[in-house]
Amino acid sequence: MKIRSADFVMSNSNVTNAPKERMPEYAFIGRSNVGKSSLINMLMERKDLAKISGKPGKTQLINHFKINEEWFLVDLPGYGYAKVSKKKRTIFQFFIENYFKEREQLVCTFVLIDSRHDPQKIDLEFMKFLGENQIPFCIAFTKADKLGSSKLNKQITSYKKKLLNTWETLPKSFITSSSTGLGREEFLDFIDGVNEDVAKDFK
Ligand code: GTP
Ligand code: MG
Repeated sequence: MKIRSADFVMSNSNVTNAPKERMPEYAFIGRSNVGKSSLINMLMERKDLAKISGKPGKTQLINHFKINEEWFLVDLPGYGYAKVSKKKRTIFQFFIENYFKEREQLVCTFVLIDSRHDPQKIDLEFMKFLGENQIPFCIAFTKADKLGSSKLNKQITSYKKKLLNTWETLPKSFITSSSTGLGREEFLDFIDGVNEDVAKDFK
C-alpha cells in the first residue's frame, strides 16, 4: 500500500467524541514505551506524526490519524506505567477499556510486545480481555533491531509457545523495528487486505 496522506485528526479522552466518519480503524496498544507511536511514524514514513519520548507515559489520550482519506490509525496511551498515580491509572484503564468496547469500526488491534521481553502478565491479560470481547488482534513484536537474529528468533518462538498454553490458535504476528523499517511492507499489506475484506461493511 502506498501512503498518500497521513493526517492527525484529534485527541480525546472519551470514545464518544472520536471521529464520526465510518472508516475501518486500527488501534495500537501495549505497555508504555514499547514503541507504539514510533511504529506509527515508521509505517507512515513520518518523523513526528505521533509524539515519541524516551520516557514512558508520553501518549496520554486516544489519538486519531486519518490515512489516505480511507482508514484510521489510533495511537493509545500505554498500560502498565507504574509512575502514573493509582487514581489516574484507573481512569486511563477505564477510557481505554471503553474505547475497545464501544468503537464499532475498530477492525483490528495491534498489541505491541517488546521482542526482548518474555511474556508479561499485563500483556497476556490484555489479550485475554480482547478475546473475551471478541476484538480481533495481531501481535507486533517491536525493537527487533535490539537483538541479533538468532536471539530474536529464539525469543519469538518461545513467546508463541507460551501463548499456546492459553490460546488454541496463535494470532497473526509481525516482527518490526522502527529504527530499520523492518516489517513495514508486510504490515501495510496486511492492513490493505483487511481494508478490502471489510469494504462491504463500510459502504
Ligand atoms: P507511550 O506513549 O509512553 O506509551 O510509549 P510508546 O509505546 O508510544 O513508545 P514510543 O514510540 O514513544 O517509544 C519509546 C522509546 O523507544 C523511544 O525512545 C523510541 O525511540 C524507542 N523505540 C521505539 N521503537 C523502537 C525500535 O524499533 N528500535 C529502537 N532501537 N528503539 C525504539
Ligand atoms: Mg506513545
